[in-house]
Amino acid sequence: MDFNIAVLKGDGIGPEVINQALLVLDKIGKKYNHQFDFKEALIGGQAIDTVGENLPKETIDICKESDAILLGAVGGPKWDGLSGEKRPEKGLLKIRKILNLYANIRPAILFKELKKACPLKDEIIGDGIDICVVRELTGGIYFGEKATREGKNGKEAYDVESYNEQEIIRIAKTAFEIARKRNKKVVSVDKANVLESSRLWRKTVNEVSKKYEDVILEHMYVDNASMQLIKNPQQFDVILTSNMFGDILSDEASMITGSIGMLPSASLGEGNIGLYEPIHGSAPDIAGQNKSNPIATILSVAMMLRHSFDLEDEAKDIENAVVNVLSNNYRTIDIMDDKNKLVTTNEMGSLIMEKI
Ligand code: IPM
Ligand code: MG
Repeated sequence: MDFNIAVLKGDGIGPEVINQALLVLDKIGKKYNHQFDFKEALIGGQAIDTVGENLPKETIDICKESDAILLGAVGGPKWDGLSGEKRPEKGLLKIRKILNLYANIRPAILFKELKKACPLKDEIIGDGIDICVVRELTGGIYFGEKATREGKNGKEAYDVESYNEQEIIRIAKTAFEIARKRNKKVVSVDKANVLESSRLWRKTVNEVSKKYEDVILEHMYVDNASMQLIKNPQQFDVILTSNMFGDILSDEASMITGSIGMLPSASLGEGNIGLYEPIHGSAPDIAGQNKSNPIATILSVAMMLRHSFDLEDEAKDIENAVVNVLSNNYRTIDIMDDKNKLVTTNEMGSLIMEKI
């Protein structure tokens, strides 16, 4: 089969982790006889420096013409002085919005090989952690009205958190559908004791849940949820939450899996095009040093094969290869401990590729 993939390497460690993921894809192509055609396009700081804008029209066109998008990371201190609209991150937010990718799936799985990299005690980890964060991605405070203006006491700024029923219904359905295929439990995270938007969120999620009686629904305030994730992560199966809370909680969940360098993500919508990216940022402090962890991006490729191309065997092959390399004790620096063999970004990519 033939697949067109838009490749948006972006900034910082983006290019180096994407390069390893592309090698893995090539290997899958050869082994299973698929043709993956990559088309590179600019986004974020890289695009600002080259053509003066964070999401050039050409990139949007290439994404729209592709079957799926693979993205590295955007942002860095170099562009910190830019206004909100011009920042690298805005390029990413725009492409999510343009393609209506409202459902961001972030699986946080602690591989047993990485137990030592998890900062929690053995008795808390128990027989493992397997959480799926379902984050709303095209609404909420990220996209609400925002401005800076002159006020009575100097400048003031605001960002509006707003959700409508339709936005909540569709992401809630996604979460319940996913839960159905897992352990049939959804914890919906909000701040309904304070926020009006959270009260609508909770009420609407309750409505949607009536069609999913086989799935247990629980509500949790976000402050409590962030504490429960550390205290008893095993209680979670699917976490359903808003754009902002999902951003924060998925970073927290990633650390439980050993490192933020381990967490992949899929952003899906009603259309056919999915966007796949590691949840980590551009890590400018280690960029170009060949020490970042490419596993989150490689696992994002596995998600692409599964969700966009319906290639379950190929996806599993990649995931097994990752586990295989980890069980042979190879580690990038972020998941390293004294008994392991330290490898570079490129070495980790090659090792995984060889196991496919
Ligand atoms: C993420 C990132 C982005 C977000 C940034 C880079 C805009 O933190 O994907 O989690 O906040 O969504
Ligand atoms: Mg984030």
